[in-house]
Amino acid sequence: MSTSILVTYASRYGSTKEVAEVVAATLREQGLTVELLPMRQVTALADYAAVVLGAPLYIGHWHKDAQKFLAKHRETLTQRPVALFTLGPLGKDEKEWEGVRTQLEQQMAQVAWLKPVAQTLFGGRYDPARLRFPDNLLTWFPATPLHQLPAGDVRDWAAIRAWAGGLAAQLQPAPAR
Ligand SMILES: Cc1cc2nc3c(=O)[nH]c(=O)nc-3n(C[C@H](O)[C@H](O)[C@H](O)COP(=O)(O)O)c2cc1C
Repeated sequence: MSTSILVTYASRYGSTKEVAEVVAATLREQGLTVELLPMRQVTALADYAAVVLGAPLYIGHWHKDAQKFLAKHRETLTQRPVALFTLGPLGKDEKEWEGVRTQLEQQMAQVAWLKPVAQTLFGGRYDPARLRFPDNLLTWFPATPLHQLPAGDVRDWAAIRAWAGGLAAQLQPAPAR
């Protein structure tokens, strides 16, 4: 069986991709063979011993590519260790983080068959000037949390490296019985 690890991500504006790059680099520093690919480019998982998934939340749901990926690869994902990171909160306020953790729990409940060996939430990056249609429409409505929200980046690179550094041991396939 292959010993290579797949780090795969869904990303609309690049911030999750950059986190996935750091996760992949951290695993490589530990001597692991890692392939880094956007979820859309992954056709099969059979060649990988373990998988790390990264996706941002959009309006309470994982990026569509991640939802499709999980549905498409459900069977193979249950047969190897999987780690999962999610990007979402755009500030440092604990209340916001609590709300996003609830969104994440709801997403996890949708894929109750998925039993990740590691699962975490990281802060995200936001820049209203880069939003494309229809995301930019959202910022116009006073009721949304994005209304008048300034650009920011709360990705905690030390926390990201620390999480990735602890993954190597957890991603070892379970010994055959
Ligand atoms: C239109 C829009 C909706 C968002 N909705 C949520 C959300 O419901 N929950 C959340 O935690 N973060 C939300 N975010 C923040 C994103 O998850 C964050 O910006 C993330 O870093 C984006 O990842 P990407 O650059 O890889 O696309 C939203 C961002 C945008 C632009």
